[in-house]
Amino acid sequence: MADSEIQTRDNETVIFDIDRRVGATQHLPGDGVPDGPVPMGSAWRASDLTEADWQVRIPEAALQEFDIIAGALAEYDEPLDSLSPDSFDWPATTDLMADVRARLSSGVGFVLLDRMPVETWTDPANRAMTWLLNEMIAPPIMQKWQGHRVYDVRDTGAKLEYGVRRSVTNLSQEFHTDGSFLAMIPDFFSLTCNRQAEAGGESLIASLVSAHNDLLENHPEHLKRLYEPFWWDRQAEHGSDESPANWLPVFTRHGDTLSVRYYDDYIRNGYRLMKEEIDPAGLAALAAMQEAVEAPDNRVAFRLRPGQVICAQNMQIAHGRTGFSDPSIKTEGGRLLLRYWLRTEGGIELDGVPLVSA
Ligand SMILES: [Fe+2]
Repeated sequence: MADSEIQTRDNETVIFDIDRRVGATQHLPGDGVPDGPVPMGSAWRASDLTEADWQVRIPEAALQEFDIIAGALAEYDEPLDSLSPDSFDWPATTDLMADVRARLSSGVGFVLLDRMPVETWTDPANRAMTWLLNEMIAPPIMQKWQGHRVYDVRDTGAKLEYGVRRSVTNLSQEFHTDGSFLAMIPDFFSLTCNRQAEAGGESLIASLVSAHNDLLENHPEHLKRLYEPFWWDRQAEHGSDESPANWLPVFTRHGDTLSVRYYDDYIRNGYRLMKEEIDPAGLAALAAMQEAVEAPDNRVAFRLRPGQVICAQNMQIAHGRTGFSDPSIKTEGGRLLLRYWLRTEGGIELDGVPLVSA
């Protein structure tokens, strides 16, 4: 039995019983390491992809529907969650977003939607339209313990420290999945570009299913460890009497469906918070995972232009970005992406409805 002192986001000191780890989070254990590669559409090689696999041009009929609805919402000042896509008649848009969702769920797992005419719309209309399109994929969930369902990814000038996410800085971000510390991670995430940085800020996409299958072939001993739990830093997004870290695996498989949570940094921070060392097998497995994720043919890179939207399946696709520089931050301009986390189950709370351990 060991106790660990942790600091909450309010700088309150809480003594946490590490032996509660089993109850800290729950997850369904799944089927374990498979005998052969997981055959998902999201198991691609970058050199095999064509633009048609992941780039979707918004058709003219949908753009006309957008303009009518964005005009009606130009002065919208009610809460976004009062808006439902079912309140509008937009058949071309409905078909478009059904195609996007199918590509996320059974295609290559990510889509670049090109593009919404954001420069012609008011700020309220931009936010309302982004909300409505995301709602057509799956319900937006809270991205913070205290409730934001739309999250502005922009450089706030904040320094990276405990409880400050890289998404509010101008720093690069290694490959990761969003909300990876959650027991119920978001199924999908999306970023809508309203403004781009003056330099840098390139988006990166990688297949975690391909990384998994590569590990199965080349490093099965490391893959086995990645199916077992690690400590994950919960980013101070929890109640003051709760564990600051969750105990969860990188890979979970149910039949031919692979679910992955990945953020190397969050695992290392999770162990620091719990005052434990990562076991040698865990360290070796994380190194092998990083190498597989960052393999040259496992990467698609592009720079989002204003109005473009990147959506991805968040349990099979990792994303990252390069750092950026933005002198206009001081004048309230600068890179601005609207981020959504979308989840099909568990309600809108960040942690979702707890799963029941088998
Ligand atoms: Fe992210």
